[in-house]
Amino acid sequence: MDEQKISILLVDDKQENLLALEGILADPDYNLVKTLSGLGALELILEHEFALILLDVHMPVMDGFETAKYIKKREKSRHIPIIFLTAVSIDEKFIFEGYAAGAVDYIIKPFDPYILKSKVSVFVELYRQSRQLEHVNKKLQETMKDLEVAYKELESFTYSVSHDLRAPLRAMSSFSQRLLDRYSGSMDEEGRDYLARISGAAQRMGELIEGLLTLSRATRAEIRRESVDLSSLAERIAKDLGRTHPERNVRFTIAEGLTVQGDPGLLRSVMENLLGNAWKFTSMREQAHIEFGAAPQSDGKRAYFVRDNGIGFNMAHATKLFGVFERLHPEKPFPGTGIGLATVQRIVQRHGGRAWAEASENRGATFYFTLE
Ligand SMILES: Nc1ncnc2c1ncn2[C@@H]1O[C@H](COP(=O)(O)OP(=O)(O)OP(=O)(O)O)[C@@H](O)[C@H]1O
Ligand SMILES: [Mg+2]
Repeated sequence: MDEQKISILLVDDKQENLLALEGILADPDYNLVKTLSGLGALELILEHEFALILLDVHMPVMDGFETAKYIKKREKSRHIPIIFLTAVSIDEKFIFEGYAAGAVDYIIKPFDPYILKSKVSVFVELYRQSRQLEHVNKKLQETMKDLEVAYKELESFTYSVSHDLRAPLRAMSSFSQRLLDRYSGSMDEEGRDYLARISGAAQRMGELIEGLLTLSRATRAEIRRESVDLSSLAERIAKDLGRTHPERNVRFTIAEGLTVQGDPGLLRSVMENLLGNAWKFTSMREQAHIEFGAAPQSDGKRAYFVRDNGIGFNMAHATKLFGVFERLHPEKPFPGTGIGLATVQRIVQRHGGRAWAEASENRGATFYFTLE
């Protein structure tokens, strides 16, 4: 059987009827398969895939209704549309029986060949479309699987590379330190400067690697679902930040009672990153103001936000910020590795939410996130 063609099963106990049907439906795209009995039809259905069945009602041994019931019982064939053809069973009762047996149409002989042909072509088109959809779906699923595998590989690659890079880096740091300690007397100013730069660069690289490992852990960690009080978490982080720079003048406004379901460790990391950024990027303000709160969204969900009156940024970069190592502001006076917001985004996404930012240059920034 030519598998490229669309197969249609014609079932009638009279050879001349089959030939007539074949004449009407002849089409180079169709593969018309004929059989003289219900049993013959059931056998053929096991072996081949059909887009449509034209089934005579009145047949000896197993009539059309019975045949249809068997066809509908089998997993492999229950989806195949059936058009009943009959000259005798025109009583309404039979018509209902036909539909109950799983018919999609009921055509009474003598029929108009043109109408039969168009009906068949409608079902063939439906079949083609569903096959196409199946094909696209399968492809999509395969792509998703490939993506998932690639993503996991990339993740473990990042993790092991970052991990393995630490040992040679430690050697670089400690030997340049030893060089400085022991031989700095026999070096000129320039030599000492070079060594200090090597050691500084190694330290920076160490920070970047630590950042990557943190990000990787946030991606791989199992998510626990517990009740987490974001408000008291924010209070504690604010207090800790205050201790790091007691001379700064920063006012925190923290909404009370904002409790969510999520992973305590990962959500702490979200809050630390966002509040830490707000703290850092308000460092040039005489009077800094940092706010944590919740805002209802148009879809009824709640977004949480951290707002500051700091340096802000140009909205043209608003999505870039969440990329790994993406930084908009200079290392001095705003030190960092550019991994914080990437971590925030992964954690929030793993909780089924999303993160975004609103800001304008020199007029503060607001970072929002939802959790499901
Ligand atoms: N509150 C903020 N106000 C202004 N710019 C911000 C704010 N938060 C983040 N940004 C911008 O987004 C960049 C990326 O932020 P992210 O937290 O990922 O990195 P980082 O703070 O520079 O370093 P890290 O968090 O890894 O120590 C920052 O460098 C800064 O340019
Ligand atoms: Mg940060």
